Amino acid sequence: MQMIDRPVVALVVAAGSGSRLGGEVPKALVQIDGRPLVRWSVEAMVAGGCQRVVVVVAAPLVDDFRAALAGVSVPLQIVVGGARRQDSVANGLAAAGEQGIVLVHDAARPFVPVDVVRSVHEAVAQGAACVIPVVPVIDSIRRARGVSSHVVDRSELVAVQTPQGFDLATLRESHEQAALQGLEVTDDAAVCEAAGHPVLLVAGAREAMKVTEPFDIHVANAIATQRRQMAANAFQENP
Ligand code: CTP
Ligand code: MG
Repeated sequence: MQMIDRPVVALVVAAGSGSRLGGEVPKALVQIDGRPLVRWSVEAMVAGGCQRVVVVVAAPLVDDFRAALAGVSVPLQIVVGGARRQDSVANGLAAAGEQGIVLVHDAARPFVPVDVVRSVHEAVAQGAACVIPVVPVIDSIRRARGVSSHVVDRSELVAVQTPQGFDLATLRESHEQAALQGLEVTDDAAVCEAAGHPVLLVAGAREAMKVTEPFDIHVANAIATQRRQMAANAFQENP
């Protein structure tokens, strides 16, 4: 196994409003098989080898997140996020330390497999500045403009997931530059790309789906139940 010599910190962004999901409970605190969504996401990052976690949350919910994350087995810091995802990441970066590797992860992706997390930070450890997990696009795609539309060749398209891995200093500098330029982005690879850094793609996984709409809660519950059953079966075979 490869030695990881630089510290790996996870920055889990959970400060969104979850407007597409709707409901009474903030998205990251919705229970999936009896566990808050954010807890699943943080545990996935710890299982994947992150040695420290920074969780970015909305200001009024700090105490709720503290309760949801009590007892996590690595040092954990909670910081307050901003209006846009990129503001939340920037706030988290301020608490992420000076040097090392940072994995920026959506709290809304609770079931990213351990192998994906590892392959992202190992690629950064081997020298990549920016690494992102991607999956092929499976639907046919059309570009729609009003009532007209035309087909887009999907063979070159991929869907981008998280965690996205970076050299910490590079991501911090790239975010500072993006803020000065007033750049609007939906992920951190776009921030690094705008600063001139190459983006390395690694294989993501369907399980790393983002809980976005109410339907996704059913999928998430199904994955969690299956994992619980697999763990119970493994325990019965090897108590
Ligand atoms: N996020 C954040 N700060 C923001 C906006 C988003 O930390 N100002 C986080 C979300 O909490 C989520 C991740 O970024 O874990 C991906 O965002 P998304 O799935 O869009 O979540 P929301 O923005 O909460 O949902 P919506 O867009 O439906 O309101
Ligand atoms: Mg959003």
